[in-house]
Amino acid sequence: MANVTVIGAQWGDEGKGKIVDWLASRADAVVRFQGGHNAGHTLVVGEQVYKLSLLPSGIVTGTLSIIGNGVVLDPWALKAEIEKLTTQGVVINAENFAIADNCPLILPLHRDLDGLREQAAGAGKIGTTGRGIGPAYEDKVGRRAIRVCDLAHLDALDVQLDRLCAHHDALRAGFGQPPVDRAALVAELKDIAPYVLQFAQPVWKRLNKVRKAGARILFEGAQGVLLDVDHGTYPFVTSSNTVSGTAASGSGLGPNSTGFVLGIVKAYTTRVGSGPFPTELEDATGQRLGERGHEFGTVTGRKRRCGWFDAVLVRQSCAISGVTGIALTKLDVLDGFEKVKICTGYRLRGKVLDYFPSHAADQAEVEPIYEEMDGWTGTTAGARSWADLPAQAIKYIQRVQELIETPVALVSTSPEREDTILVRDPFVD
Ligand code: GDP
Ligand code: IMO
Ligand code: MG
Repeated sequence: MANVTVIGAQWGDEGKGKIVDWLASRADAVVRFQGGHNAGHTLVVGEQVYKLSLLPSGIVTGTLSIIGNGVVLDPWALKAEIEKLTTQGVVINAENFAIADNCPLILPLHRDLDGLREQAAGAGKIGTTGRGIGPAYEDKVGRRAIRVCDLAHLDALDVQLDRLCAHHDALRAGFGQPPVDRAALVAELKDIAPYVLQFAQPVWKRLNKVRKAGARILFEGAQGVLLDVDHGTYPFVTSSNTVSGTAASGSGLGPNSTGFVLGIVKAYTTRVGSGPFPTELEDATGQRLGERGHEFGTVTGRKRRCGWFDAVLVRQSCAISGVTGIALTKLDVLDGFEKVKICTGYRLRGKVLDYFPSHAADQAEVEPIYEEMDGWTGTTAGARSWADLPAQAIKYIQRVQELIETPVALVSTSPEREDTILVRDPFVD
């Protein structure tokens, strides 16, 4: 099986975009299968920096790029992103880009509701990206969504719009907001419809054809396992399943198509938004990690919370997602630290745990048990081969793979595409 599924194994921002871009030149198709424009994937190629939220990271290499049915699609955000990338010289057309016609849309009313809820929640807020992701997934599951294929039949949408507006008008009234301006919504949809429809097709069909022809498919996950709506730090999660299994259901291929599961793992831990974070460092060390790693959100510009590597969480993510091998990223950020720590277990009310418990109160209360290692004096930044790594950095990598019970397939040592060490080829294994 030559396909590869890339997923984040922490709380997102592990460097998925960089790795997908690096692998994309060897793939025949790159597919996004969940999430929406809450994602922010940064690619650095020479002097150029590309920031992608909705488009698969394969688009920059010109690889066939597909948005699967599991994604929630904001048509206006899509248009803006395509226009921005076009000014950067990226070619995007109906030949190299397709959108599943059964993809649900994110509408302005979803963004409204996301904002109203977060505002009303005060200190209890999730800290969402404000893109309307949660409300759009709720409408999909609630069978009220407007989908890409509906854009070709806007005049026959009355019953669906009745259902959607009745639901939202009741919620909006609760927040003291006016009802949905239905005429304005239909007018906006009519305006954007031709733009989206030029890319729309039953992508499951195209992907199955590609698969049968023996082509290599690269699935690009967004967010990370700890933000998964089932397995993550609920309720401080996103509203989709971010685990590897979603690659199949979110694109229209069977579970036997997802191939090598490549978990992207940052050499330390970060998180944006609210929620538990056992190894968080609110001191000078955390500050140093954030500064060295430029830990600011791509989408919202928010400062990311930083902490030591948590092997318990990553081991759990790898098990839940059936990770075959990991790409360890941002190792260079640890260059120059005299000592580095790894969390190997938790203490909870006198008991030692080797897993992250499900209840939010327990998750907030666990105390990390650390193992301390010497740092390295040499530099890993820009290393492109194993031989370029200081011996102590290799020890750190080896200890990580031992603790997470999953081998390292790639190591990334800078934001730049080519600063990547291949240990085990995911397309071959
Ligand atoms: P994603 O959401 O998983 O794609 O990750 P983001 O792009 O949001 O965040 C990762 C950030 O780290 C981006 O700014 C990347 O350019 C950068 N990055 C990726 N890999 C490395 C690496 O190995 N070293 C360093 N220093 N930066 C990296
Ligand atoms: P990438 O793909 C990091 C977080 C938000 C918030 C929670 C819910 O770049 O790794 P949502 O808007 O999805 O309802 O927000 O999820 N979040 C991310 N954090 N990286 C992401 O994507 C994220 N997408 C959502 O900060 O805590
Ligand atoms: Mg990101």
